[in-house]
Order: sequence, then C-alpha cells, then structure tokens
Amino acid sequence: MPSPLPAAIEVRGLTKVFDRKRERGWKALRRAPKERITAVDHVDLAVEEGELFGLLGPNAAGKTTLVKVLATLLLPTEGTGTIAGLDIVKDADAVRQKVGVVLGGDRALYWRLTARENLWYFSQLYNMPDAPARKRIDELLGVVGLTDRADERVENYSKGMKQRLHIARGLLHDPSILLLDEPTIGLDPHAARSLRALVRDLVDQHGRTVVLTTHYMYEADQLSDRVAIINKGRIVACDTPAALKLRHAQGLVYLVEARGPVEDALRKLPGVQLLGAVPSEAGGMTYRLRAPDAAQDRIAGELAEAVQQSKGTLLGLRREEATLEDVFVELTGSGLREERGGDEDE
Ligand SMILES: Nc1ncnc2c1ncn2[C@@H]1O[C@H](COP(=O)(O)OP(=O)(O)OP(=O)(O)O)[C@@H](O)[C@H]1O
Ligand SMILES: [Mg+2]
Repeated sequence: MPSPLPAAIEVRGLTKVFDRKRERGWKALRRAPKERITAVDHVDLAVEEGELFGLLGPNAAGKTTLVKVLATLLLPTEGTGTIAGLDIVKDADAVRQKVGVVLGGDRALYWRLTARENLWYFSQLYNMPDAPARKRIDELLGVVGLTDRADERVENYSKGMKQRLHIARGLLHDPSILLLDEPTIGLDPHAARSLRALVRDLVDQHGRTVVLTTHYMYEADQLSDRVAIINKGRIVACDTPAALKLRHAQGLVYLVEARGPVEDALRKLPGVQLLGAVPSEAGGMTYRLRAPDAAQDRIAGELAEAVQQSKGTLLGLRREEATLEDVFVELTGSGLREERGGDEDE
C-alpha cells in the first residue's frame, strides 16, 4: 500500500497560555499577580487534504488563537503542530509558504488603491516576478469574483467585496491551505451566502484545504465537511455535522407554539427536555423540546394533550431536525448565544 500523505494539518496537545496583567495603575501593575488564560487547551486535531474544516465555538472559545498558532503568528506554549508535514515552530518559514491566513476584522488593505493595485503591492512583498504576478492577480480576481470591479478603489467596495479581496490576498502565494477566521462576520445575509459559496468553491474547484472559524452554527453546518466544536479552549467534539447531530442530539426536536400557562406541563412529560422558549409572532410562546426516539409514535399527541390539560391554546406543532446548536447545548450545557447576523434569512 502506498504510504498515506501527511494530513494537511495535524495538531497534538496544542496549548496556548496568555499571561495577562490586571491593569490597575502603574505600581499595582508591577506587583499585580499575573492572570493566566488558557486560550487553547491541549487540542488534538487532524485536517485532511481537500477538506473544508469548520471550527465552531462561542466568543472567547480560542478560535482565533488556534488559527494564529497554526499560521505561525503566535508560538504555542505546549504541544506540537504540523502543516503538510512541516513543524509550525521549527519550520515556520516553510509553513508560511503553505498557508494563507485571513483574520476576522482584517484591515490590511489600502483603501486608496484599487483591488488590482492592492494585490500588486502584496505580490511585491512576496518578491513575485512581474509577469507571473500579473497573471496570478488576474486569475485570483476571477476566482473571488472581482474581475469587473478590479480597477475601482477599495474604499468604494462593499464589506463582502473587501472580504473577497482579503481572500485573494491570502491566496497570492498559492498556499494549499487557507485559514479563514470568521469570514462572514458583519456581512449581510446575501453577501454571507455568496462568500460561503466562494469558500466551498475554493475547496471543490480549486483543490484547497480550508479551515474556517465561525460562531454561526448554520454556517458550520451547511459549509463544513467536518466540524470541531470548541469551547473554553477545548475541542469537545469533532465529526461531520450529520454524525454530530446523530450522536449528540439524538431524538426528535419539536416546536410547540402555544398560548397560556403550558410550560410546566410540557416539561413534566416523561423523557421530554425543554431546550428553549421564545415569544411567537401569534402572541404565544414557541417551545423547543426534545423527545426520545422511542416516543416518536405518541409524542405529538402527548404534547397536544399537555397543552390542552393546562388550559392553553395550541397554535402549532411541528417536528424539526436537530441543529448543531442542540449539539452544542448537549455537550457544554450552554448555548452558542448566536447572533443571527450571517444566517438571518436561511
Ligand atoms: N493577546 C492576548 N493576550 C491575553 N489574552 C488573550 C490574547 N488573545 C486572546 N486572549 C484571550 O484568549 C481567549 C480566547 O480568545 P480568542 O480570540 O482566541 O477567542 P475566539 O474564539 O476567537 O473568540 P471570538 O469569537 O470572540 O473571536 C479569550 O479569553 C481572550 O481574552
Ligand atoms: Mg476570534
């Protein structure tokens, strides 16, 4: 059997601890005890070549820190990582050739220059010879869908167009692996959707390996071949979205929309777990409930009866597929506290 290629990314026990001094005046600062923050906590991961790998987690989970360590922008405190078989500490220069990185809130573009001029400028930082650089820039403008607007100043670009240009910049040196930190943050739903299509294309049409961080569970679910869920610096689960939902959010999710004091009765049904409740448009509440698989035949009837017996009015009842949010709640006991930004209309 041929020996397998090294994984695109392989990480063992990777840990990043920050020392943070509490800021309380000059003297206090010098004497203040250091606060240690373990941003990335003994992470093990393997990303295969040609994979679109999602890193899903809430604020402060350690997503950006992990990306920065992989991109050789931060040194790990402990543990090891390789990219295409190269060590992220010892072979950092070679790793940088293999990896393109676009950080969330990236501002490294010159707004007075056009997209083409920006890419030209960065190509010169990489010492690319003139003719190949021009060819590459033309190609990349096409890949990210900016050919028609390439000679406009970036200051007139929409957020989505700027993000596309950031991605083009990240691809200039032709890296096989692209690290994207929260690529759709701040984009409107339309721009977010089209950027997700671009990211998918980079993997499917252009043969890249992409690691993408997000706190939008919808984005991780729709886009990723595999997802690692990260919370407080630790990977709590890693698999395909479908397998994660099957394993950690078993059972059926029901949405019960009702008016009246029905919550207690719903909670008390055997095996039923209340996942959440939000006000509904019709002036009632929509309860999100999980019921065991075994209850499938009878649960809808039981839910309706519980509403009736507690003198409530049933406004609607439907079954829904579990989401990665449900998986996250199951694994961590808390929600992702997701802003609906990128996925509003999905
Ligand atoms: N340079 C730093 N110095 C001290 N602490 C840091 C530093 N960078 C990050 N941290 C801390 O490490 C933890 C993880 O931060 P990180 O930015 O990696 O999270 P994140 O998952 O990217 O969050 P977000 O979704 O908000 O971007 C946080 O508690 C953060 O305050
Ligand atoms: Mg971040």
